[in-house]
Amino acid sequence: MSAYNDNTAIRRVTTHQLQEMKNRGEKISMLTAYDYSMARILDSAGLDVLLVGDSASNVIAGHETTLPITLDQMIYHASAVVRAARRALIVVDIPFGSYQGNSSEALRSSIRIMKESGAHAVKVEGGAEIKESVQRILSAGVPVMGHLGLMPQSIYKYGTYTVRAREEAEAEKLEKDAKLLEEIGCFAIVLEKIPAELAQKVAGSLQIPIIGIGAGNGVDGQVLVTHDMLGINNDFQPRFLRKYADLYSTMNNAFVEYIKDVKSGDFPNDKECY
Ligand code: KIV
Repeated sequence: MSAYNDNTAIRRVTTHQLQEMKNRGEKISMLTAYDYSMARILDSAGLDVLLVGDSASNVIAGHETTLPITLDQMIYHASAVVRAARRALIVVDIPFGSYQGNSSEALRSSIRIMKESGAHAVKVEGGAEIKESVQRILSAGVPVMGHLGLMPQSIYKYGTYTVRAREEAEAEKLEKDAKLLEEIGCFAIVLEKIPAELAQKVAGSLQIPIIGIGAGNGVDGQVLVTHDMLGINNDFQPRFLRKYADLYSTMNNAFVEYIKDVKSGDFPNDKECY
């Protein structure tokens, strides 16, 4: 099933529409995309937002963390997604090391992403610590999505991928950071792997949309890593992940069949030749 066909006049989802969706209580759907073929399927299915996540570092490049992916690599992934998606709003993670240092670098990185990929917004991890960078990016007219809770770019500070903000002090800082990001002009915030009650409180007290991953159902939308929800990574099973397919098995079976047919000489047959 497709949300549109080739002749449909399509209106691009905007940050303004996401705000309207929150206002009328319609949940926002968001998944990650890193390449043209997958982005086409995601977009035609009707996803509201495609996130070119720095999780590409894990699921595409096979790194243990999101830290190694570069700005050039993020732009490469983002431009492939932009070429595919006609409807979804496309948000791109600014990678580790390309915005935390100083606000001029943050501005330069976000302008490169917008100019060279054609994406519509950027996402950054952090609160008060990156306030100046966020303000500088916003001052150039680039929409910014925040990201709080478990922030994978800070994994070596935490040491683990367990649930964040269970302790009162961390929960209070998260609430303050979320408020700050809204005040300075972010259009939405991702909350990753925090208690559902806290996420609901933040979503209820802020005007802007709050998108959760492992943050319960009391928020304004949900995001997952596409390869995880499709069951392509069969060794990643966190509690928050709902698997909508078992593509690891489906693809593995297809490859095994192909090998069998090639080895036996069954492929190609007469109809598959010129
Ligand atoms: O990089 C990513 O995929 C993300 C999501 C987990 C929100 O930031």
